[in-house]
Amino acid sequence: QGNADDGSRDVLFGGTLSDSYVGDLPVVSATYDRGVEWAGTAGLEMTLTTDTTREPFTTVNVLAETNTGDPENIVMVGAHLDSVNPGPGINDNGSGSAAILETAIQMSKVNLVNKVRFAWWGAEESGLIGSTFYVNDLIDKFFAGDDQIFDIALYLNFDMVGSPNYVFKIYDGDDSDEVGAGPGPDGSAQIEAFFEGFYESRGEPYKGTDFSGRSDYGPFIDLVGIPAGGLFTGAEEIKSDEEAAIWGGTAGEQLDPCYHLVCDTFDNNSDKALDINSDAIAASTLYYGMNTSEING
Ligand code: PHE
Ligand code: ZN
Ligand code: ZN
Ligand code: ZN
Repeated sequence: QGNADDGSRDVLFGGTLSDSYVGDLPVVSATYDRGVEWAGTAGLEMTLTTDTTREPFTTVNVLAETNTGDPENIVMVGAHLDSVNPGPGINDNGSGSAAILETAIQMSKVNLVNKVRFAWWGAEESGLIGSTFYVNDLIDKFFAGDDQIFDIALYLNFDMVGSPNYVFKIYDGDDSDEVGAGPGPDGSAQIEAFFEGFYESRGEPYKGTDFSGRSDYGPFIDLVGIPAGGLFTGAEEIKSDEEAAIWGGTAGEQLDPCYHLVCDTFDNNSDKALDINSDAIAASTLYYGMNTSEING
Protein backbone atom coordinates (compact mmCIF):
# COMPACT_ATOMS: atom_id res chain seq x y z
CA GLN A 1 0.00 0.00 0.00
CA GLY A 2 1.13 3.51 -0.66
CA ASN A 3 0.99 6.57 1.48
CA ALA A 4 -0.62 9.19 -0.74
CA ASP A 5 -2.88 11.56 1.18
CA ASP A 6 -5.37 12.00 -1.67
CA GLY A 7 -6.36 8.35 -1.31
CA SER A 8 -5.86 7.69 -5.00
CA ARG A 9 -2.91 5.43 -4.58
CA ASP A 10 -3.56 3.90 -1.22
CA VAL A 11 -4.58 0.49 -2.41
CA LEU A 12 -2.30 -1.55 -4.54
CA PHE A 13 -4.64 -4.50 -4.93
CA GLY A 14 -7.96 -2.77 -5.06
CA GLY A 15 -8.39 -1.09 -8.40
CA THR A 16 -7.62 2.55 -7.63
CA LEU A 17 -4.36 2.39 -9.57
CA SER A 18 -3.70 4.66 -12.47
CA ASP A 19 -1.86 3.03 -15.36
CA SER A 20 1.52 4.11 -14.15
CA TYR A 21 1.96 3.53 -10.47
CA VAL A 22 4.56 5.30 -8.45
CA GLY A 23 4.05 4.88 -4.74
CA ASP A 24 5.75 5.22 -1.44
CA LEU A 25 6.13 2.29 0.87
CA PRO A 26 7.07 3.06 4.46
CA VAL A 27 8.52 -0.38 4.98
CA VAL A 28 9.77 -3.25 2.95
CA SER A 29 7.49 -6.16 3.65
CA ALA A 30 5.85 -9.24 2.23
CA THR A 31 3.22 -6.88 0.89
CA TYR A 32 5.82 -5.20 -1.25
CA ASP A 33 6.76 -8.43 -2.99
CA ARG A 34 3.13 -9.18 -3.64
CA GLY A 35 2.68 -5.68 -4.97
CA VAL A 36 5.54 -5.97 -7.41
CA GLU A 37 4.20 -9.29 -8.62
CA TRP A 38 0.72 -7.84 -9.03
CA ALA A 39 1.94 -4.73 -10.79
CA GLY A 40 4.02 -6.87 -13.14
CA THR A 41 1.05 -9.03 -14.10
CA ALA A 42 -1.02 -5.93 -14.74
CA GLY A 43 1.70 -4.51 -16.97
CA LEU A 44 2.38 -1.64 -14.57
CA GLU A 45 5.62 -0.24 -13.35
CA MET A 46 6.12 0.15 -9.66
CA THR A 47 8.85 2.15 -8.02
CA LEU A 48 9.77 1.66 -4.42
CA THR A 49 10.96 4.65 -2.51
CA THR A 50 11.77 4.38 1.15
CA ASP A 51 9.98 6.81 3.43
CA THR A 52 12.85 8.69 5.00
CA THR A 53 10.57 11.02 6.95
CA ARG A 54 10.04 8.49 9.69
CA GLU A 55 12.62 7.34 12.16
CA PRO A 56 12.74 3.65 13.00
CA PHE A 57 10.69 3.00 16.10
CA THR A 58 10.00 0.24 18.57
CA THR A 59 6.62 -1.38 18.96
CA VAL A 60 5.28 -4.12 21.20
CA ASN A 61 3.35 -7.38 21.40
CA VAL A 62 0.82 -7.54 24.22
CA LEU A 63 0.57 -10.99 25.82
CA ALA A 64 -1.92 -12.13 28.46
CA GLU A 65 -2.80 -15.60 29.70
CA THR A 66 -5.41 -17.26 31.87
CA ASN A 67 -4.62 -18.08 35.48
CA THR A 68 -6.18 -21.50 35.09
CA GLY A 69 -5.18 -24.37 32.83
CA ASP A 70 -2.15 -26.56 32.21
CA PRO A 71 0.88 -24.34 31.50
CA GLU A 72 2.42 -27.22 29.53
CA ASN A 73 -0.50 -27.40 27.10
CA ILE A 74 -1.19 -23.88 25.94
CA VAL A 75 -3.78 -22.71 23.44
CA MET A 76 -2.59 -19.49 21.80
CA VAL A 77 -5.09 -17.02 20.35
CA GLY A 78 -3.84 -13.97 18.44
CA ALA A 79 -4.85 -10.88 16.50
CA HIS A 80 -2.73 -8.00 15.24
CA LEU A 81 -3.23 -4.71 17.00
CA ASP A 82 -1.50 -2.39 14.52
CA SER A 83 -3.03 -0.85 11.41
CA VAL A 84 -1.56 0.61 8.23
CA ASN A 85 -0.48 4.24 8.06
CA PRO A 86 -3.40 5.56 6.00
CA GLY A 87 -6.25 4.21 8.11
CA PRO A 88 -7.57 3.56 11.61
CA GLY A 89 -7.84 -0.18 10.96
CA ILE A 90 -11.20 -0.99 12.51
CA ASN A 91 -11.95 -4.10 10.47
CA ASP A 92 -8.21 -4.66 9.91
CA ASN A 93 -7.74 -5.47 12.71
CA GLY A 94 -9.81 -3.86 15.44
CA SER A 95 -12.33 -6.63 14.70
CA GLY A 96 -10.05 -9.52 15.63
CA SER A 97 -8.40 -7.59 18.47
CA ALA A 98 -11.72 -6.71 20.10
CA ALA A 99 -13.13 -10.21 19.64
CA ILE A 100 -10.18 -11.85 21.38
CA LEU A 101 -10.20 -9.19 24.11
CA GLU A 102 -13.83 -9.96 24.97
CA THR A 103 -13.03 -13.67 24.76
CA ALA A 104 -10.13 -13.17 27.18
CA ILE A 105 -12.38 -11.33 29.64
CA GLN A 106 -14.95 -14.14 29.53
CA MET A 107 -12.30 -16.89 29.74
CA SER A 108 -11.08 -15.45 33.02
CA LYS A 109 -14.38 -16.67 34.56
CA VAL A 110 -13.85 -20.27 33.44
CA ASN A 111 -11.88 -23.02 35.12
CA LEU A 112 -9.91 -24.18 32.10
CA VAL A 113 -8.08 -27.48 31.58
CA ASN A 114 -5.48 -25.88 29.29
CA LYS A 115 -3.91 -22.48 29.67
CA VAL A 116 -4.99 -19.93 27.06
CA ARG A 117 -2.46 -17.29 26.03
CA PHE A 118 -3.71 -14.27 24.11
CA ALA A 119 -1.43 -12.23 21.85
CA TRP A 120 -2.12 -8.81 20.38
CA TRP A 121 0.67 -8.58 17.84
CA GLY A 122 2.53 -5.45 16.89
CA ALA A 123 3.77 -4.60 13.39
CA GLU A 124 1.86 -7.26 11.45
CA GLU A 125 1.40 -4.81 8.60
CA SER A 126 5.14 -4.27 8.33
CA GLY A 127 5.73 -7.95 7.55
CA LEU A 128 4.51 -10.08 10.50
CA ILE A 129 7.25 -8.55 12.63
CA GLY A 130 5.72 -9.00 16.09
CA SER A 131 4.64 -12.62 15.66
CA THR A 132 7.90 -13.52 13.91
CA PHE A 133 9.86 -12.02 16.79
CA TYR A 134 7.80 -14.00 19.30
CA VAL A 135 8.30 -17.34 17.55
CA ASN A 136 11.99 -16.68 16.90
CA ASP A 137 12.46 -15.81 20.56
CA LEU A 138 10.99 -19.20 21.54
CA ILE A 139 13.32 -20.89 19.04
CA ASP A 140 16.30 -19.04 20.58
CA LYS A 141 15.15 -20.19 24.01
CA PHE A 142 14.99 -23.78 22.77
CA PHE A 143 18.60 -23.65 21.62
CA ALA A 144 19.49 -22.17 25.00
CA GLY A 145 17.94 -25.20 26.75
CA ASP A 146 14.45 -23.82 27.48
CA ASP A 147 11.93 -25.84 25.49
CA GLN A 148 8.71 -23.97 26.35
CA ILE A 149 7.96 -23.75 22.63
CA PHE A 150 6.68 -27.34 22.91
CA ASP A 151 4.08 -26.22 25.44
CA ILE A 152 2.09 -24.51 22.67
CA ALA A 153 -0.54 -26.98 21.47
CA LEU A 154 -2.03 -24.81 18.73
CA TYR A 155 -2.41 -21.26 17.48
CA LEU A 156 -5.66 -19.55 16.42
CA ASN A 157 -5.46 -16.34 14.36
CA PHE A 158 -8.12 -13.71 13.74
CA ASP A 159 -7.34 -10.98 11.22
CA MET A 160 -10.33 -9.18 9.63
CA VAL A 161 -13.44 -10.94 10.91
CA GLY A 162 -16.17 -8.32 10.27
CA SER A 163 -15.75 -7.22 6.65
CA PRO A 164 -18.76 -5.23 5.40
CA ASN A 165 -19.19 -7.27 2.19
CA TYR A 166 -18.18 -10.47 3.99
CA VAL A 167 -17.71 -14.08 3.04
CA PHE A 168 -17.20 -16.55 5.93
CA LYS A 169 -13.77 -17.99 5.23
CA ILE A 170 -11.80 -20.57 7.21
CA TYR A 171 -8.05 -21.06 6.80
CA ASP A 172 -7.68 -24.13 4.60
CA GLY A 173 -5.60 -26.29 6.96
CA ASP A 174 -6.33 -29.54 5.08
CA ASP A 175 -5.77 -28.07 1.60
CA SER A 176 -9.15 -29.49 0.50
CA ASP A 177 -10.09 -26.17 -1.00
CA GLU A 178 -6.85 -25.94 -2.98
CA VAL A 179 -6.40 -22.32 -2.14
CA GLY A 180 -3.43 -22.67 0.20
CA ALA A 181 0.16 -23.72 -0.17
CA GLY A 182 -0.53 -27.32 0.79
CA PRO A 183 -1.87 -28.67 4.07
CA GLY A 184 -0.86 -26.99 7.31
CA PRO A 185 1.00 -28.73 10.14
CA ASP A 186 -0.76 -31.85 11.52
CA GLY A 187 -3.74 -30.73 13.55
CA SER A 188 -4.54 -27.77 11.30
CA ALA A 189 -7.16 -29.82 9.42
CA GLN A 190 -8.93 -30.56 12.72
CA ILE A 191 -9.04 -26.85 13.55
CA GLU A 192 -10.55 -26.10 10.15
CA ALA A 193 -13.12 -28.85 10.82
CA PHE A 194 -14.01 -27.28 14.17
CA PHE A 195 -14.88 -23.99 12.47
CA GLU A 196 -16.81 -25.81 9.72
CA GLY A 197 -18.88 -27.50 12.42
CA PHE A 198 -19.44 -24.16 14.13
CA TYR A 199 -20.81 -22.50 10.97
CA GLU A 200 -22.91 -25.58 10.22
CA SER A 201 -24.43 -25.37 13.70
CA ARG A 202 -25.46 -21.80 12.89
CA GLY A 203 -26.73 -22.64 9.41
CA GLU A 204 -24.11 -20.34 7.88
CA PRO A 205 -22.27 -21.17 4.64
CA TYR A 206 -18.45 -21.04 4.62
CA LYS A 207 -15.50 -21.67 2.34
CA GLY A 208 -11.78 -22.35 2.67
CA THR A 209 -9.20 -19.63 2.21
CA ASP A 210 -5.49 -19.21 1.62
CA PHE A 211 -3.35 -20.80 4.35
CA SER A 212 -0.02 -19.68 2.97
CA GLY A 213 1.02 -17.24 5.66
CA ARG A 214 -0.51 -13.84 4.96
CA SER A 215 -1.07 -13.12 8.65
CA ASP A 216 0.46 -13.83 12.06
CA TYR A 217 -0.11 -17.61 11.92
CA GLY A 218 2.65 -17.66 9.25
CA PRO A 219 5.63 -17.91 11.62
CA PHE A 220 3.85 -20.54 13.73
CA ILE A 221 3.32 -22.90 10.79
CA ASP A 222 6.47 -22.04 8.84
CA LEU A 223 9.11 -21.71 11.55
CA VAL A 224 7.99 -24.45 13.94
CA GLY A 225 5.06 -26.42 12.52
CA ILE A 226 2.57 -25.59 15.26
CA PRO A 227 -0.99 -26.56 14.24
CA ALA A 228 -2.95 -23.44 13.39
CA GLY A 229 -6.23 -22.13 12.08
CA GLY A 230 -8.42 -19.08 11.96
CA LEU A 231 -11.12 -17.03 10.32
CA PHE A 232 -11.23 -14.29 7.71
CA THR A 233 -14.09 -12.35 6.08
CA GLY A 234 -12.17 -10.87 3.16
CA ALA A 235 -9.98 -7.93 2.19
CA GLU A 236 -9.25 -6.76 -1.37
CA GLU A 237 -10.87 -9.75 -3.11
CA ILE A 238 -13.79 -8.90 -5.39
CA LYS A 239 -17.08 -10.63 -4.48
CA SER A 240 -18.19 -12.97 -7.25
CA ASP A 241 -21.78 -13.42 -8.41
CA GLU A 242 -21.69 -16.88 -6.89
CA GLU A 243 -20.52 -15.53 -3.53
CA ALA A 244 -23.19 -12.82 -3.57
CA ALA A 245 -25.81 -15.50 -4.18
CA ILE A 246 -24.59 -17.39 -1.12
CA TRP A 247 -23.73 -14.61 1.36
CA GLY A 248 -25.62 -11.62 -0.02
CA GLY A 249 -23.77 -8.32 -0.29
CA THR A 250 -22.51 -6.73 -3.49
CA ALA A 251 -20.96 -8.68 -6.36
CA GLY A 252 -18.17 -6.85 -8.16
CA GLU A 253 -17.07 -4.99 -5.04
CA GLN A 254 -14.25 -5.75 -2.64
CA LEU A 255 -15.16 -7.85 0.40
CA ASP A 256 -13.71 -4.94 2.36
CA PRO A 257 -13.98 -1.84 0.14
CA CYS A 258 -12.04 0.16 2.77
CA TYR A 259 -9.18 -2.34 3.05
CA HIS A 260 -6.08 -0.38 4.13
CA LEU A 261 -7.85 2.93 3.52
CA VAL A 262 -8.74 5.90 5.69
CA CYS A 263 -12.39 4.75 5.59
CA ASP A 264 -11.66 1.62 7.65
CA THR A 265 -13.66 3.18 10.51
CA PHE A 266 -16.40 1.92 12.86
CA ASP A 267 -18.79 2.13 9.90
CA ASN A 268 -16.65 -0.33 7.98
CA ASN A 269 -18.14 -3.39 9.56
CA SER A 270 -20.83 -6.03 9.19
CA ASP A 271 -22.50 -6.43 12.58
CA LYS A 272 -23.76 -9.84 11.51
CA ALA A 273 -20.32 -11.15 10.48
CA LEU A 274 -18.65 -9.72 13.57
CA ASP A 275 -21.34 -11.15 15.85
CA ILE A 276 -21.19 -14.66 14.41
CA ASN A 277 -17.40 -14.67 14.22
CA SER A 278 -17.05 -13.38 17.79
CA ASP A 279 -19.09 -16.41 18.86
CA ALA A 280 -16.88 -18.67 16.73
CA ILE A 281 -13.77 -17.17 18.32
CA ALA A 282 -15.11 -17.64 21.84
CA ALA A 283 -16.37 -21.16 21.04
CA SER A 284 -13.05 -22.32 19.58
CA THR A 285 -11.06 -20.81 22.43
CA LEU A 286 -13.25 -22.48 25.05
CA TYR A 287 -13.31 -25.78 23.16
CA TYR A 288 -9.53 -26.06 22.91
CA GLY A 289 -9.11 -24.53 26.35
CA MET A 290 -10.94 -27.61 27.63
CA ASN A 291 -9.54 -30.31 25.34
CA THR A 292 -6.82 -30.47 22.70
CA SER A 293 -6.82 -34.27 22.30
CA GLU A 294 -7.94 -34.00 18.66
CA ILE A 295 -4.80 -32.00 18.00
CA ASN A 296 -2.12 -33.61 20.14
CA GLY A 297 -3.54 -36.92 21.39
N1 PHE B 1 -2.84 -9.91 6.83
C1 PHE B 1 -3.62 -9.10 5.93
C2 PHE B 1 -3.57 -7.66 6.43
O1 PHE B 1 -3.46 -7.41 7.61
C3 PHE B 1 -5.04 -9.50 5.83
C4 PHE B 1 -5.24 -10.93 5.48
C5 PHE B 1 -5.53 -11.84 6.47
C6 PHE B 1 -5.15 -11.36 4.18
C7 PHE B 1 -5.71 -13.19 6.18
C8 PHE B 1 -5.34 -12.69 3.85
C9 PHE B 1 -5.61 -13.61 4.85
O2 PHE B 1 -3.68 -6.74 5.66
ZN1 ZN C 1 -3.88 -5.13 6.83
ZN1 ZN D 1 -4.73 -7.52 9.07
ZN1 ZN E 1 -10.12 -27.16 3.74
